[in-house]
Amino acid sequence: MTGSGLPALLLTGGSGQVGRALRQAPPEGFEVVAPTRAELDLADPASVRRWVGARPWAAIVNAGAWTAVDAAESQASEAWAANALGPAALARASSEAGIPLIHISTDYVFDGGLDRPYREDDPVGPTSVYGASKAAGEMAVAALNPRHVILRTAWVFSPWGSNFVRTMLRLGQAREALSVVSDQHGCPTSALDIAAAVGTVCTRLSGPGAPSGVFHFAGAGETTWFGLAERVFERAAEAGLKTPVLTPIATADWPTPVRRPANSRLDTTAFTRTFGRSPRLWTETADEVMDRLLRPAEGEGDAV
Ligand SMILES: NC(=O)c1ccc[n+]([C@@H]2O[C@H](COP(=O)([O-])OP(=O)(O)OC[C@H]3O[C@@H](n4cnc5c(N)ncnc54)[C@H](OP(=O)(O)O)[C@@H]3O)[C@@H](O)[C@H]2O)c1
Repeated sequence: MTGSGLPALLLTGGSGQVGRALRQAPPEGFEVVAPTRAELDLADPASVRRWVGARPWAAIVNAGAWTAVDAAESQASEAWAANALGPAALARASSEAGIPLIHISTDYVFDGGLDRPYREDDPVGPTSVYGASKAAGEMAVAALNPRHVILRTAWVFSPWGSNFVRTMLRLGQAREALSVVSDQHGCPTSALDIAAAVGTVCTRLSGPGAPSGVFHFAGAGETTWFGLAERVFERAAEAGLKTPVLTPIATADWPTPVRRPANSRLDTTAFTRTFGRSPRLWTETADEVMDRLLRPAEGEGDAV
């Protein structure tokens, strides 16, 4: 319990997409405490231990991570510290204190070569430093704290931070034409929906039947980056914004240091069966975020 009288959640990554969504809509019945990265640095095990030991947290939510996929290739030790060593330190300290840990992970633990949505028990096979560091973080969490829920998600967007939806809107205002990759398949996921899912997990963390393990949580339905761009510009056009001519291109025509997975789709059946909550359709959540970006209420959404 804290000042509010509510059980408290310790949140890392509170300034990120998922973290901001959790701060804006805290899980019902909980207070969220979100130290800054300067206060709780995942790369600094001593600061992790200090924060975990500071209060009898109801749970810890690790939404902090090194998420710069390409930069991780040249800054592997920094990415590894945040994505693997940090979760390990969190898991060890939380386990010693008997606190459950909710850890957010990614489809990049897979190689993207499968021709169906990935299930939780499909073998991991990361092809990048980012993916390998996140896979190592998962392994550490699972090994060190028996009370863990690892939520793998993908293609995250929100009204704030760095994400594809905001990038498209910004580029659409500046350019007459945009080329967008149309041969990568995924499930766009709203950070607002992830925050709601974390809330559902939080209500199930105590008691003898508390679920534990790896679960996939990503937007329902599937599309390509091109399909998501089309949706963004349909809404933008309705709001009277200038829209560019869109051209579909292949991954090979858009080289990046890390080749993106062809298949990022995640099968969310186990999450729904276990927690009684289904992810919302990506089209619905994309429209919701676009609404918030195009008609921001005061204090909402960053400027595009
Ligand atoms: N974005 C996606 O498309 C995507 C897809 C699949 C999975 N995920 C996973 O979802 C989770 C949340 O992602 P997101 O998109 O919300 O990330 P984000 O917007 O990039 O935010 C990352 C957060 O982590 C914090 N952070 C970075 N290094 C840290 C460190 N050493 N110690 C403490 N905090 C640190 C950042 O703090 P500062 O702001 O101070 O740097 C920021 O708050 C991550 O686990 C990510 O791997 C994301």
